[in-house]
Amino acid sequence: MTFNEFLTAVKYSEKNFVEQVKEVNTIQGLEELFKSYCGKKGSLSLLRKQIGLMTPDEKKQAGQVLNKAFEEIEALYKEKRETLEQNLEDELIDLTAYIAKLNQDPLKSLGHMHIITKTLYELEDLFIGMGFSIETGPELETDWYNFEALNIPKDHPARGMWDTLYVDLGQPESTLLRTHTSPVQIRVLSSQKPPVYMIAHGKCFRRDTPDASHLSSFHQLEGLVVDKNISFADLKGTIETFTQAYFGVETLVRLRPSYFPFTEPSAEFEISCRICFGKGCRTCSNTGWLELGGCGVVNENVLVNCNINPDEYQGFAFGFGIERLIQMKYQIPDLRILTESDMRFLANF
Ligand code: PHE
Repeated sequence: MTFNEFLTAVKYSEKNFVEQVKEVNTIQGLEELFKSYCGKKGSLSLLRKQIGLMTPDEKKQAGQVLNKAFEEIEALYKEKRETLEQNLEDELIDLTAYIAKLNQDPLKSLGHMHIITKTLYELEDLFIGMGFSIETGPELETDWYNFEALNIPKDHPARGMWDTLYVDLGQPESTLLRTHTSPVQIRVLSSQKPPVYMIAHGKCFRRDTPDASHLSSFHQLEGLVVDKNISFADLKGTIETFTQAYFGVETLVRLRPSYFPFTEPSAEFEISCRICFGKGCRTCSNTGWLELGGCGVVNENVLVNCNINPDEYQGFAFGFGIERLIQMKYQIPDLRILTESDMRFLANF
């Protein structure tokens, strides 16, 4: 390379950089561009090697020209970098004050899951941990699934246990809003072979006037196990396991004889009172116990209705209201607040 060629090459590089730097609009792009000129293997850096081959006079001049070019490119690079950094900062929005304000005012909060949903997820987790599957069924049911297959024939006095809301569809009183989640037992048992370890939860409906401890639309969680050699002890163990996980290990469980057409024998399950721990108080009407739900050994007729041989398989089932469960855990005086969208209440969970 002659001295003149060297000078042209330096000028050319400088000119190119000036043009290219205008086009760059990211910091990364700028860094790469700068490196391609002034980096170890950059075009200007490589030109420096040519100086060694020149006469002493040429060397001096060439060195000065090259250093000037370096300086100019570096200055342009720095200027562009500052502009790009400033642009980035301009785009940032500081949300700290905004979020702090939101957190102060629950009415403007970003929202979160409702306590009922949260509780259902928590219970799902618990039962999945015990090896149960999660099943679902429709809210609009037929008489067969909600009653008949569950060993509650028409005109059976036990139908009075559920104040049913019928739907004007098909034959009179053939379609209804499910009064409990037990019909999912039938749906699963008539479509799956045992062993069955399932829970199902969802909305249920009853012709009830809402009061402090009743809702006409509420949630239930149903559990069903059908397998070989299943006993009442398995039922009690399962109820104990999930109530202690939900309420705390100090929780005691007891079963009291009861009646459901789809279980025989049947029981109500109760937990020790969360307020007085068994001593007796107003909440537990001085009994020391709080009633949570119904349970029992699956009635043979239910198994037969689902084509399962009761000599081979046995099972247990249980069901309870989610709103009741939440009421007991958080000592909520009136259930109806769970259905109102009052943020002063909901923001507590
Ligand atoms: N389905 C019953 C009810 O709603 C509860 C229950 C479920 C009882 C399973 C026994 C077994 O009252």
